[in-house]
Amino acid sequence: MNVAVVGIGRIGLPVATGIAARGHSVVGCDIDERRVAMVNRGENPIPDEAGLGELLAEVVRAGNLRATTSTAAAVAEASTVLFAVAVDVDRDGHADLTSLLAACDAVASGMQAGTLCIFDTTLPVGTTRSVLARRLEQRGMVEGRDFEVAFSPERLLMGRVIEDLTKYPKVVGGLTPEAGRRAAAFFREVLGGEVMELPSAEAAELSKLAEGAYRDLNIALANELAQVADVHHVDIADVLRAANSQPYSHIHVPGTGVGGHCIPVYPQFLMQGEGPSSLSARGRHVNDEMPAYAVRRIAEVSGPLEGKRVLVLGLTFRPDVAVVAHTNASDLLRELEAAGVIVEGHDPLLSAAGIEALGFSPARSPEQGYDVAIVHANHRAYRDLNWSNVAPLIVDARNALNRSEIEGRGLRYLGIGRPVTPAR
Ligand SMILES: NC(=O)c1ccc[n+]([C@@H]2O[C@H](COP(=O)([O-])OP(=O)(O)OC[C@H]3O[C@@H](n4cnc5c(N)ncnc54)[C@H](O)[C@@H]3O)[C@@H](O)[C@H]2O)c1
Repeated sequence: MNVAVVGIGRIGLPVATGIAARGHSVVGCDIDERRVAMVNRGENPIPDEAGLGELLAEVVRAGNLRATTSTAAAVAEASTVLFAVAVDVDRDGHADLTSLLAACDAVASGMQAGTLCIFDTTLPVGTTRSVLARRLEQRGMVEGRDFEVAFSPERLLMGRVIEDLTKYPKVVGGLTPEAGRRAAAFFREVLGGEVMELPSAEAAELSKLAEGAYRDLNIALANELAQVADVHHVDIADVLRAANSQPYSHIHVPGTGVGGHCIPVYPQFLMQGEGPSSLSARGRHVNDEMPAYAVRRIAEVSGPLEGKRVLVLGLTFRPDVAVVAHTNASDLLRELEAAGVIVEGHDPLLSAAGIEALGFSPARSPEQGYDVAIVHANHRAYRDLNWSNVAPLIVDARNALNRSEIEGRGLRYLGIGRPVTPAR
């Protein structure tokens, strides 16, 4: 099968590689010339994506994967086109479709009759039908007659995309029954995993927003409960261990909010659509307030923060993944600076310029005797830190550290919704 994957970023490239590894002929299309050149040399531009490096080199060597900036030409040879171009929110919280629409324009200029176009990028409900399919019709071909369009959300987790490719059912929904059937058959063949066919693209679009909104709201609940736990001086870790010990409770872990370009973004897609969304808005608000809450808690236990030296460790939105989209580290920085703190940032996954781009002064090393250290992303690289040299108060922004190890060194530990170690 000849497949074009448009947008070979964090998601598109591993997906293209996985399809090529099953013997299909795949062309990855991107506007990023450097990335295209790297892929054609068999080099992996996403080193923190587990298992991608070896597989990519193998499929490029075998001639099953190549990359190009000439999207129209690649699409002209393909029977199926997958779109994995990112959609983010603009300042007003609306989906910014600029890149995806540009990709549609390039595809429309090369697409042949009979092509199946599948949008993998998460979208506000109705966008595939009312905006993207219409854009693809610009050269006179008619969707549903000359070409088909389906939506199929990516449900993968960065860092383990290759492992996850067939772990969960691939959800698909077509704009027509024929598009749905073809998209389901396509994924059965190119991925080899379970496919779940929904009756429409809109159902598939909403299913992806439902997953994201569920997680955002669940974390908001955990964050609210953590604040109640603080009021009553109980440990939210004990509370959740007990509450989640029956099968109907799956409360997530509280922290300083939600980052990345998925979970904090998708509730906003719901909020801009038709239909009720007050709960999504409320969850967003609770999670967005967490950096300010965390800084207030730190001030409560350590006294006035003005003039104190605080280090934020791990600035990416998740541990061990070099992505900073919507990272809460920036929100923590804003709140700390508002409290008059001298803030430095450290992240072994980012360059000094990358750290500065987030607004932080880069720390030379974490072990420099700060007043407070906030572990925002608990990278594997921090496992061997000598916390005694970092700070006397370690704040666990993700409730991910080993509390007893820190306290065993005579240091104070503060988690979100967790009582601070008493001062000695
Ligand atoms: N990253 C995740 O964890 C994740 C998880 C699930 C779903 N998704 C979905 O996948 C989408 C893509 O995410 P990502 O992390 O791969 O984004 P990304 O930014 O890493 O990749 C997008 C790629 O598209 C390319 N691009 C931009 N405009 C283009 C154009 N006109 N033509 C061709 N290529 C173009 C960019 O150069 C980039 O390489 C997201 O919007 C989201 O809906 C992502």
